[in-house]
Formats: sequence, C-alpha cells, structure tokens
Amino acid sequence: MPLLGVNIDHIATIRQARRGDEPDPVRAAHEAELGGAGIITVHLREDRRHIQDHDVERLRPFIKVRLNLEMAASAEMIGIARRIEPHMCTLVPEGRLEVTTEGGLNVAGDAKRLKAAVAKLKAAGIVASAFIDADPDQIQASADAGFDACEIHTGPYAAAFAKAGGDFSKPNLKAQLDTIAEAGEFIRACGMRFNAGHALNYHNVGPIAALPEIAELHIGHSIVSRAVYTGMREAVREMNRLIENAASGHHHG
Ligand code: PXP
Repeated sequence: MPLLGVNIDHIATIRQARRGDEPDPVRAAHEAELGGAGIITVHLREDRRHIQDHDVERLRPFIKVRLNLEMAASAEMIGIARRIEPHMCTLVPEGRLEVTTEGGLNVAGDAKRLKAAVAKLKAAGIVASAFIDADPDQIQASADAGFDACEIHTGPYAAAFAKAGGDFSKPNLKAQLDTIAEAGEFIRACGMRFNAGHALNYHNVGPIAALPEIAELHIGHSIVSRAVYTGMREAVREMNRLIENAASGHHHG
C-alpha cells in the first residue's frame, strides 16, 4: 500500500488569516500521524503565505514519520533544507501569482541548475524528488539529473475525473489514468520511486492508489477541507482506508 503524505499547508493558511498562533500545523501533524499519515508534507513558499520557517524547524524534531519539504530549487531553499534536513525534498516550480502549484517542474529545460540542486540535497543525505507532469522527457531528464523519485502531477487526471463524473468509459479520463500508469512504469524502469499527487480527493484517489508500484500519494487540500468537519485524525484515517482498499484490489473504477 502506498504511503499517505499529508500536506498541512492549509492549516497554516487558516492561521495566517489572523497572523496568530492557531491552528498550529505542528498539532495538525500530530493528529495526521494518529490517523495514519506516513509522511507529513509542507511547502515553504518564497512568499511565506502559509508555512513559516519556524513551522518547518519545529516539525522536524517533533514528527515521528517522514518530513517532506516541498520547495523551489532556489539557493535560499536549498540552504534551509540542508540546515533542517528533512527526509525528502520535493522540488516544485513556483509562481508568485499562482493559487497553488500549477504545473510540473521543467527538468528537461533546466537540467544543469536542477542537477546541481539535487547534488546539494543528496550530499546532505536528503532524498530528492521532482514534481513533474506525466511526460517521458521529464522523467528521463529527472533520472539524468540524479533525482531519487518523481511525483507525477495528478491535476489533469483530477480535472478529467470531475468532468467525467468518475466514469472511466469516458475516453479522456481513461487516457489520463493510462498516461500516469505509463509514467509510473517508466519511472520505475529508470530506478526511481514513483509518487503522485495534486488535486487528489476522496472520490478520485482509488484508481491512482491502485497503480502498480506506486510508493507515495501526496494529498493536502481535500484532507484539510474534510478535517474542518471530522477532525484531522478521522480525515486522514478515511483517506487511508480508501487507499488501502484500492491498493488491495477492492476498488472497481
Ligand atoms: N504535491 C505537490 C508537489 C504540491 O505542490 C501539492 C500542493 O501543495 C500537493 C501535492 C497537494 O495538492 P492538493 O493540496 O491539491 O492535495
């Protein structure tokens, strides 16, 4: 069964609405762990719109599972990562005006810089993951740059799922899922870890969780949204139940 990485950025979004001290992402991470999170993810953005530096610093010794730091491949962020030493860094493109990460990293178009960034992370013992679109050229470039893992951007799949109402007889939805499955096979053939994430939710997660050899699913907004009603622990538990059912073959997409 793939590990569930719970992204708690939006706990910090709620806190920043008042620039106060609640809700505290560290407490949310604890609740997510109690619900079965295998990884806690935070995105330290250049504009610090949600997660702050001190959150990452406090999370690192506090959490018992893996810490995944999402970040741009900037000198500032690489320095922070090397100081805090999360288990993994996921490199993402970052646009100042975007509401959330909009597309995958262009590893093929920025190979030299990213290869240097990966080398710096790996020298500090940090696992390096590339958040990319399901594109063979990007996968090959990620392998060439030395990445240990690729996280495939599931946004286009999620959009197709919503449009098709989850009906896999609709050609575009089936095509999006097949594209991710093929990307996963190629990632594994390149010797990297196959992860996926972005815009996954309680409705669309099953077919992705059922893909062969998928190692990690990274999910944020849908879990935090549900946690508003059910609490974080139960929201994570329910997502893990769906993943486990799908991964063990109970899902019929
Ligand atoms: N993976 C990556 C690389 C992301 O940038 C994000 C959003 O921060 C996620 C996963 C989680 O996406 P969502 O909040 O839509 O579940």
